[in-house]
Amino acid sequence: MSAVYGKEEAGPEGLASALVEKGVLTSDWLPSLAAVPRHLFVPDTIWPGRAGMNRQSDRIVRREEPEAWWEAVHRDVPITTQWDDGAYDGPGKGRAPSSSSSMPTMVFSMLDALDVEDGHKVLEIGTGTGWNAALLAHRLGGGNVVTVEVDPATAEDARQRLRAAGYEPSSIVGDGAEGYAAAGPYDRTIATCSVGRVPRAWRAQTKPGGLIVAPWGPVYGGEAVARLRVARDGSASGRFAGSSAFMRLRAQRTARTHVREYLKGVPWPAGAARSTTALSPDDLGEWVTMFAVGVQVPDVFPWMEMYGDGSYTLWLRDTAVTSWATADYEEGREEFEVRQSGPRKLWDEVEAAYRWWEGHGRPGFTRFGLTVDDAGEHVWLDSPERPVPLCAVRAQGAARAQAKTPPSVR
Ligand SMILES: C[S@@+](CC[C@H](N)C(=O)[O-])C[C@H]1O[C@@H](n2cnc3c(N)ncnc32)[C@H](O)[C@@H]1O
Repeated sequence: MSAVYGKEEAGPEGLASALVEKGVLTSDWLPSLAAVPRHLFVPDTIWPGRAGMNRQSDRIVRREEPEAWWEAVHRDVPITTQWDDGAYDGPGKGRAPSSSSSMPTMVFSMLDALDVEDGHKVLEIGTGTGWNAALLAHRLGGGNVVTVEVDPATAEDARQRLRAAGYEPSSIVGDGAEGYAAAGPYDRTIATCSVGRVPRAWRAQTKPGGLIVAPWGPVYGGEAVARLRVARDGSASGRFAGSSAFMRLRAQRTARTHVREYLKGVPWPAGAARSTTALSPDDLGEWVTMFAVGVQVPDVFPWMEMYGDGSYTLWLRDTAVTSWATADYEEGREEFEVRQSGPRKLWDEVEAAYRWWEGHGRPGFTRFGLTVDDAGEHVWLDSPERPVPLCAVRAQGAARAQAKTPPSVR
């Protein structure tokens, strides 16, 4: 539970005061929270998250444990409401959460970043429970809010809850990556699922001068809320507002190919080149470190193989399934064994990216920014004139490959 209030205070007012005390609930959103309490939008079967942890508690069914349900709903934690796109319906937990009521701190930080004014028209991607859409509809009027949800059952449940609470934003079932042009253009676009590429439609359907607020993160991990101002030329640019951890927009989920596909039937180390490093794999685990590494090392994801005694192997694999690396961590060591295989030297890339971040004073999320245009995503440090470079090792590799390529097929 949010340590701010005790069990006897669990309820809408306790949640509101906890959020005010944290500085995330501002006076302009307070009336909306008072009018639209979270419990009206949380379904009867939930898997509450644990504060500060990316894991869910056991399932709570409202009619079986009404007090536990009530208390969980009024904690400042995310609450999983669906697993595996609805394919898992059991009493335990599925493989991956696919819908939730976001952490209230996150909901109000993002609404604050959205900077809405009376009369603004807002597009929300990811209706989920409908709570955020209801908060927006209370503030701006249902006629000014469009919310898009890809999952038909989730969308229908949300629509019923919205109607019961007295709100009728346009509730659309569809792929939010396409936005909803029919009701655009919008003053504000907010996504409550994360992306690694900001869909073109969001830029096209947001008015010049308008804002896009969306959780953004590289394949590697690490994520932060991007707050992008749309320019007349259709590009969008701005700083990250702070860290986040949302579920991915469906079409942008990373397919994590199994290790055996990389090893091709040959037992590890499968002839991979051996080296050692002074960089501890343990130094790479912070969310912001992963973000800083990930923006420089595209299309690579980490995976930990734990051994139960505190030691582990950090695996790095590319999404193209051409390259892998391992780095073995053991407490107390000053040198760590590395294996690398394939055209990309993934450990070298990750280590060079880490050194770049370290060399720039380990900047936090809010020193980074993002510009999106038709050429893609460009992450920068402090200002758009200081782009974060593609990892040095990768750039050298690419230059070597290009030098070897005959001009006719370049
Ligand atoms: C964290 S939940 C949203 C929370 C929600 N705003 C609320 O107030 O409860 C993320 C939602 O995004 C939805 N989603 C994922 N991919 C989507 C897509 N391509 N288009 C629209 N919704 C999507 C998921 O089904 C899920 O319901």
